[in-house]
Amino acid sequence: MDLRTAIQQGSDILSSAGVPDARLTAELLLCHALRKERIYLYSHPEHQLSTVEWIHYGRYLHERTSGKPAQYITKVQEFYGRPFRVSPAVLIPRPETEHVVEHALEVAQGAKRILDIGTGSGALAVTLALELNADAVATDISHDAILAARSNAEALHARAGFVQCDLASALSTRFDLIVSNPPYIPAREMGTLQQEVRDHEPHVALLGGANGTEIYHRIVPQAERLLQPGGWLIFEIGYQGESCVRSAFGPAWQDVTTGYDLAGWPRVVRGRYAP
Ligand SMILES: C[S@@+](CC[C@H](N)C(=O)[O-])C[C@H]1O[C@@H](n2cnc3c(N)ncnc32)[C@H](O)[C@@H]1O
Repeated sequence: MDLRTAIQQGSDILSSAGVPDARLTAELLLCHALRKERIYLYSHPEHQLSTVEWIHYGRYLHERTSGKPAQYITKVQEFYGRPFRVSPAVLIPRPETEHVVEHALEVAQGAKRILDIGTGSGALAVTLALELNADAVATDISHDAILAARSNAEALHARAGFVQCDLASALSTRFDLIVSNPPYIPAREMGTLQQEVRDHEPHVALLGGANGTEIYHRIVPQAERLLQPGGWLIFEIGYQGESCVRSAFGPAWQDVTTGYDLAGWPRVVRGRYAP
């Protein structure tokens, strides 16, 4: 079977199973089976799949139609233009989280020391360390997330250190910028999540307690302990969390601002520590 036919057949299988973006997904899974970049599919349409390639491709299609996210099959997700390795131990970095990077680049250009609380794959810590030419420290409560983030930092040559702890409880040095995309799905909304998120992504990365905002109220006092005066705290928030997260910033904070995503939802809340 040649590549063109394999893409068409894969696309038909995925689309009949209701998988969105069926053709693109078929192409990505085929590339993964071939261990080639996507350009190869178009530059070598005459390539005949070997038996091993066909078996791999068939397995990946089956995994995807069974609900496994494509990124956990290909083990990679691009974030801010860089490839991050992902496994079911870490949240798949989302494009919305790139807004946190944009806000950081807007307000914290001179930051030399950055802290990322709840780093997952390391997407924010690694990206900001590279974009700002800074030293990052990142924490996560999950040991497997720490291992994944550290391996991404090494692969992408970012200056970053990783600490397994609850929020920032193990840290005592000061930072110029703190970012966090903590778990913020209210427990009562777990049942409303897409099945592939609920069944495959780590619940510790998703569930933010009863109303999804308690963790922000725990992070702000820790940021007051760890930020240099004038430093910024930048959060990603869930679509219902804006007013509650803003209320976590007390009198020691100035310039508390909300940022919106491309769909117009509140997505980022940031504030400047001014004790
Ligand atoms: C929504 S994910 C964000 C991951 C990554 N920063 C991103 O944006 O893709 C939240 C992360 O916070 C971690 N986490 C949850 N509770 C935590 C806690 N109490 N202390 C530290 N990390 C925590 C989870 O393990 C998960 O990796």
